[in-house]
Amino acid sequence: MKIAHISDIHCTKGQDFNERIFDKAAKLVNAQEPDFVFVSGDLTTEGLISDYDIAREKLKSIEGDIAIVPGNHDERNLGYRLFPEYFGKMDFIKDFGDIRLAGLASSEPDKDDGRLGTGRHQIIRDAISSAKQDGKIAMVGFHHHIIPIPNSGREKNIVEDAGETLDIILRSRMPIVLMGHRHVPYAVKVNDTMMISAGTLSCNRTRAHFGNTFNIIEIEGNLVEVSVMNVRTEKACKMLSYCKKPYKYENKYCE
Ligand SMILES: [Fe+2]
Ligand SMILES: [Fe+2]
Repeated sequence: MKIAHISDIHCTKGQDFNERIFDKAAKLVNAQEPDFVFVSGDLTTEGLISDYDIAREKLKSIEGDIAIVPGNHDERNLGYRLFPEYFGKMDFIKDFGDIRLAGLASSEPDKDDGRLGTGRHQIIRDAISSAKQDGKIAMVGFHHHIIPIPNSGREKNIVEDAGETLDIILRSRMPIVLMGHRHVPYAVKVNDTMMISAGTLSCNRTRAHFGNTFNIIEIEGNLVEVSVMNVRTEKACKMLSYCKKPYKYENKYCE
C-alpha cells in the first residue's frame, strides 16, 4: 500500500501559492502511482471563493483516489461553508483498500488553534472498532498536530484536546496518524504509532532548507516507511522506517 500525503497547498491569488512548484509536484505525485492521496488541509490561504476556485482546479491534475480535510486557513472568512461545496464532507470515514481512514476537520473558524472535540473522538473510535470487525487498518488524518513538531518555530497549535486524542489513538495501537500545518516534514514513532506530518507542497512560506515537499508512505506487512520527496530537487529522502517484527526503527530529518 502506498499513500501520497500532501499538505498546505495554499492556493490564492496572493503571495503564498507557487503554481509552478504545484504543477511539478502534481507530476511527481502521479508518478508515484499511490493507492490514494491524502491532503491534510490548508488548500487555500484565505478561505475565499477565489482561493477555493484555484484549489479545485489545481487538484484536478492529481490522479486517482483522494481524501481531503480542511485546515485552519480553509476555515477563514466563512470558508468552512465553502469547503463542503468544493471538496465534500469535512469529517468522514472512507476505505482505501485495507485502510479505513477517519478524516477530521481539526480547525475552528478564524482561529489558528485546533480542537477535535467529543464528536470527532467518537468518529475515531467508530473507525477503530469497525476496522477491527472488518479486518482493516484504522488510520486518522487531520490538519493540526497532537504532538509538538520540531523545526517549526514556536511549537504552538497542538490541538487543545491532544491528550484525549492521543489516548484513544495510542490505546488502540493505531499504526499511522497523518497531520500537516507546520510546513515542515516530520515523523516519529510514539509507542506503536507513526505520527507523520507533511511539509508544504506549494506554499512560498517554507522553513529554512526544508523546501516544498510531500510524503510517500509505504506499508508492506509489518514494515512502514516514510519518505520525503523534495519537489525542487526531485530527490526522495527516507525519514522513517519501522518494522515491529523483527524490530527495526530508523528516523532522521530530511532537510
Ligand atoms: Fe499552512
Ligand atoms: Fe495550517
